[in-house]
Amino acid sequence: MEDNIICHCMDVSEHEIVYTIKHNDDISIQDLMDITGAGTGCGSCIGELEEILHRELRKLGRE
Ligand code: FES
Repeated sequence: MEDNIICHCMDVSEHEIVYTIKHNDDISIQDLMDITGAGTGCGSCIGELEEILHRELRKLGRE
């Protein structure tokens, strides 16, 4: 599941997104986009990036 490609424009996987969230405190959606490049093409994956960000922050007890 975590090897799903979430951002097809920039070829960014769910695994990479989750890893980035775990290793960056106080990460925002913009930070996530800046670091991974996800969401910086057509933008159609941004909603899914936000869902993953909130899901992972909840799991980590950071939200
Ligand atoms: S699919 Fe992520 S920017 Fe296009």
